[in-house]
Amino acid sequence: MMPTRSAESSELALVDLHRPATANKYAWRPPFDVEAAYEHEQWWDTVPYPLGDPWYIQVVAGGMEVARVEMDNPGDVNPEYTDVPDLGPERLEIQFIEVANTAHRRGIGSRVVRALQERHADRRLFAYSEEADRFWTSLGWERFDHPNGLNRPLFISPPR
Ligand SMILES: CC(C)(COP(=O)(O)OP(=O)(O)OC[C@H]1O[C@@H](n2cnc3c(N)ncnc32)[C@H](O)[C@@H]1OP(=O)(O)O)[C@@H](O)C(=O)NCCC(=O)NCCS
Repeated sequence: MMPTRSAESSELALVDLHRPATANKYAWRPPFDVEAAYEHEQWWDTVPYPLGDPWYIQVVAGGMEVARVEMDNPGDVNPEYTDVPDLGPERLEIQFIEVANTAHRRGIGSRVVRALQERHADRRLFAYSEEADRFWTSLGWERFDHPNGLNRPLFISPPR
C-alpha cells in the first residue's frame, strides 16, 4: 500500500511488534507491510536471532504503513563520546527509524519521534545518527561526537 497525502494529516498509530515466544527465532521477521518501500530494506529484513526480545514498531496512518522503528531496550550509550551524560536505566535507544520512501519530508518522522517521547515519557530516548544529523537536530536533541571523528554522532532527547 502506498502512503498518500492523507497520511500526513491522519493520526499515527504505533503498533508494537515483538517476536512471539512460540516463533522460530531464526526465521521470524516483523510482520511489516511488504508493499511499503524503504531505502534501507536491510534494516528490516534481518533480525539478529540472539536478541532476547526483538522490538519493532509499525507506524500506521490512514490505514497505511508510513514508517518503521526498531527499538533497543535500553540500548548502550558509548561512554567514549565527549561530555556524554550517564543516562542510567531510563535510557531507551531508537536503533533505526525509517519513513516510507513516498512519505519523506512531510513531518512524519518528527511526529513519530515525538509520539515515542510522549509514550515513553519516563525514559530518555537516544539514537546514533545514520546520516540524519539535520533530522535529529531539528527535533532539539543534543549532539555528542566521538573523539575519533568517525563514529556516528549520538543524539539524546532533552530532559523533560
Ligand atoms: C530521516 C527520516 C526518518 C526523516 O523523516 P521525515 O519524515 O522525512 O522528516 P521530517 O519531515 O519530519 O523532517 C523534519 C526535519 O528534519 C530535517 N530533514 C529531514 N530529512 C532531511 C534530509 N533528507 N536532508 C536534510 N534535512 C532533513 C529537516 O530539518 C526537516 O525539516 P524541514 O522539512 O522543515 O526542513 C527519513 O528521511 C528517513 O527515513 N530517512 C532514511 C532512513 C534514515 O536515515 N533514518 C535515520 C536513522 S538514524
